[in-house]
Amino acid sequence: MAGRPALWRGLLLLLSLGGSSAPASLLRRLREHIQQFQESSGLSLTLGPGAGALPKQGWLGQPLDPFNTSDRRSFLQRYWVNDQHWASQHGPVFLHLGGESRLGSGSVMRGHPAALAPAWGALVIGLEHRFYGLSIPAGGLDVAQLGFLSSRHALADVASARLALARLFNVSTSSPWICFGGSYAGSLAAWARLKFPHLIFASVASSAPVRAVLDFSEYNEVVSRSLTSTAVGGSPECLAAASAAFAEVERRLRAGPGARAALRAELGACSSLGRTEDQAELLGALQALVGGVVQYDAQAGVPLSVRRLCGLLLEGRSNGSRSAPYLGLRRAVQVVLHSLGQRCLSFSRAETVAQLKVTAPHVSSVGERQWLYQTCTEFGFYVTCEDPRCPFSQLPALPSQLELCERVFGLSASSIARAVAQTNSYYGGQTPGATQVLFTNGDTDPWHVLSVTRASGPSESALLIPGASHCMDMAPKRPSDSPSLRLGRQSIFQQLQAWLGPAKGSQESPVSSGG
Ligand SMILES: *[C@@H]1O[C@H](CO)[C@@H](O)[C@H](O)[C@H]1NC(C)=O
Ligand SMILES: *[C@@H]1O[C@H](CO)[C@@H](O)[C@H](O)[C@H]1NC(C)=O
Ligand SMILES: *[C@@H]1O[C@H](CO)[C@@H](O)[C@H](O)[C@H]1NC(C)=O
Repeated sequence: MAGRPALWRGLLLLLSLGGSSAPASLLRRLREHIQQFQESSGLSLTLGPGAGALPKQGWLGQPLDPFNTSDRRSFLQRYWVNDQHWASQHGPVFLHLGGESRLGSGSVMRGHPAALAPAWGALVIGLEHRFYGLSIPAGGLDVAQLGFLSSRHALADVASARLALARLFNVSTSSPWICFGGSYAGSLAAWARLKFPHLIFASVASSAPVRAVLDFSEYNEVVSRSLTSTAVGGSPECLAAASAAFAEVERRLRAGPGARAALRAELGACSSLGRTEDQAELLGALQALVGGVVQYDAQAGVPLSVRRLCGLLLEGRSNGSRSAPYLGLRRAVQVVLHSLGQRCLSFSRAETVAQLKVTAPHVSSVGERQWLYQTCTEFGFYVTCEDPRCPFSQLPALPSQLELCERVFGLSASSIARAVAQTNSYYGGQTPGATQVLFTNGDTDPWHVLSVTRASGPSESALLIPGASHCMDMAPKRPSDSPSLRLGRQSIFQQLQAWLGPAKGSQESPVSSGG
């Protein structure tokens, strides 16, 4: 997810940062990597001739507990403002919501909604999610504090920020506010319109998994399908090779200490793979790698595309070597390790748990602990592969993923199941019944199955973009964008025209608006 959601908790990949061993899931690392890549290229573009000043960063005082007015504690929530296109105080405001990781100035400079702002003279504001990035309340991340972390708290922040920022920037009361967000933040964008229609005029929810689910086995169904999709460089042979590679890793794990030692060296593991729980950690990480390649296929800054991964997996095929797919997977691990600047990977379950228990905010810079908490108390989203038809490893199974909630937060499996059900009844799952929300998804993206992909009536529209990956419509446009992605962006533009009226400069569109 917004991007991402490494919503993607169950598949933990521990990455050793130059000996310090700060853990993070591979998917979250990947997304951070992509975000940094896109932001750095974004800033260099905006510093070109004629570019306005860098966006202003500000802080809003927000109540820690918005549901208890007797509680006077507060925290500072970070935001960015880009007023470079803002034509009049009666113009629209595009509010870009942050999700389960830090937000940056890029949120108001590149991609959606910044690329759409010139056409309507919109003010663009980015709002970081509470408990992520630098918007972490004093007192850190202990369990009592995390009681103030939920999507409902985040939505209360959106409502109060919307009112406070309108006053601060003297935005006219007639200005329409439109929320944008990707992945979990896309769900927030949809829910902000659903719960606060008097404050939020409309929302564009990109790759938003609005249905919570405990056992997210459908994730790997889409990964399998995408690996066979010729549109993104996959094939049935590629899926078979991926499956064979996992079978080979499992065979080597079972083949005794000598084979495991060799495997450890070949996959760049930081420590031994003797314990069963560490083996499950390794298998989970490898699945996260393949899932991550699919989820972020063809995005700027990704180390591997589906096409390249399939190329590696099928490379040794012609000389008939049985371990060719395994060698390809091994090569893929090395490519990802290299691009993330890692020397080795930690697959120690004990280390995962220990790191997730750390309550000092700086250690979890990608929000690992906070997001685990949200999956344990709201969403589930645990990716599994226990169905016999699933082509990867059956480990780690659901119980071991749920056990993490118990070991880190003392939350039982049954409480997680109840929380997931409650989330769906509170927001309405895939039939939220909101009006003026556009749901966009890519059909390569494993998360689209939890989103809204078919319009339900004229006021809740949906766009499913063929061959697109997670939140791809929000990313800055690139020459390599597929025709279907361009068409998808045109549809989003047309939806905004339907809501806001004709764009300025008539033919102006995201395809021609620079950035
Ligand atoms: C509301 O906040 C007050 C002041 O911090 C506290 O004493 C009270 O217990 C809180 N009420 C609830 C329902 O949490
Ligand atoms: C805010 O806008 C109103 C007009 O809507 C104007 O009269 C007023 O001076 C503005 N205030 C500031 C501080 O810009
Ligand atoms: C098979 O091909 C791969 C890739 O071209 C090569 O690295 C490997 O050494 C070959 N193996 C044999 C047994 O020829």
